[in-house]
Amino acid sequence: MLGRERVEIKTPEQIQKMRAAGLLTSAALESVRAALRPGITPKELDAIGAEVIRAGGGTSNFLGYHGYPATLCISVNEVVVHGIPGDTPLVAGDVVSIDGGAVVDGWHGDSAFTAIVGEPDDAGDAELVEITRQALWAGIAALDARGRVGDVGAAVEDAVDGRLGIVDGYTGHGIGTAMHMAPDVLNYRVREKGPKVRPGMVLAIEPMCTRGGIETDVLPDDWTVVTSDGTRAAHWEHTVAVLDEGLWVLTAPDGGASELAAFGVQVPSA
Ligand code: MF3
Ligand code: CO
Repeated sequence: MLGRERVEIKTPEQIQKMRAAGLLTSAALESVRAALRPGITPKELDAIGAEVIRAGGGTSNFLGYHGYPATLCISVNEVVVHGIPGDTPLVAGDVVSIDGGAVVDGWHGDSAFTAIVGEPDDAGDAELVEITRQALWAGIAALDARGRVGDVGAAVEDAVDGRLGIVDGYTGHGIGTAMHMAPDVLNYRVREKGPKVRPGMVLAIEPMCTRGGIETDVLPDDWTVVTSDGTRAAHWEHTVAVLDEGLWVLTAPDGGASELAAFGVQVPSA
């Protein structure tokens, strides 16, 4: 029944609460970004994110989710998503995706970024990160036309423009009173256009791209998703609210204003 479940529509007051979760999610990820350097371990980064969420009065939506054992997913190099933070120190040049979320007052945030540890020394890796980031913002901006949810995937695909593989089988999602809700938000164009984009919808948009193919495997830990061809991957994600007056990127400190300006999209509260 894919695409037929009801989409939770939020009131403006509920979206304000989701903003608090979004800002705490953003603060946790920014603290991790600031700590990212050669020699630090993913477990240490996880502890930093966990402490920011705790101190901000939130809880982690990842920890315990279907038994997930950490606060963050930390996905290094050929790991696409759902990497479990471990004890192997990061080294300069590693491509690291950090994904996390906070729950505040019952409302969920979810966001991810990818960064290169130390000084980037590989142009292809830098491109991987930047094209995926641009694809995220193109996907977000596509909501502004108030068409169909499927417009996001079309915009992501067009932004990537064949330069990267767009990972098959993993999608963005509705978010609100739970982390994963209807609808699925694909990262590529399909025939089924999905539900209409309506004010009160909140979506987690999250392109996942590789320097090679679109196929992945799950490691025996039942979490870690790796590229089947061993190429490196990137993952960017924001939680985005559709408002009467425009879009509000709840997990971006400026609400998305600076990035969305290039697309001519208004962010009302900025
Ligand atoms: N945050 C991921 C997503 O973007 C899901 C994480 S799965 C978990 O949808 F188990 F780690 F929580
Ligand atoms: Co998500």
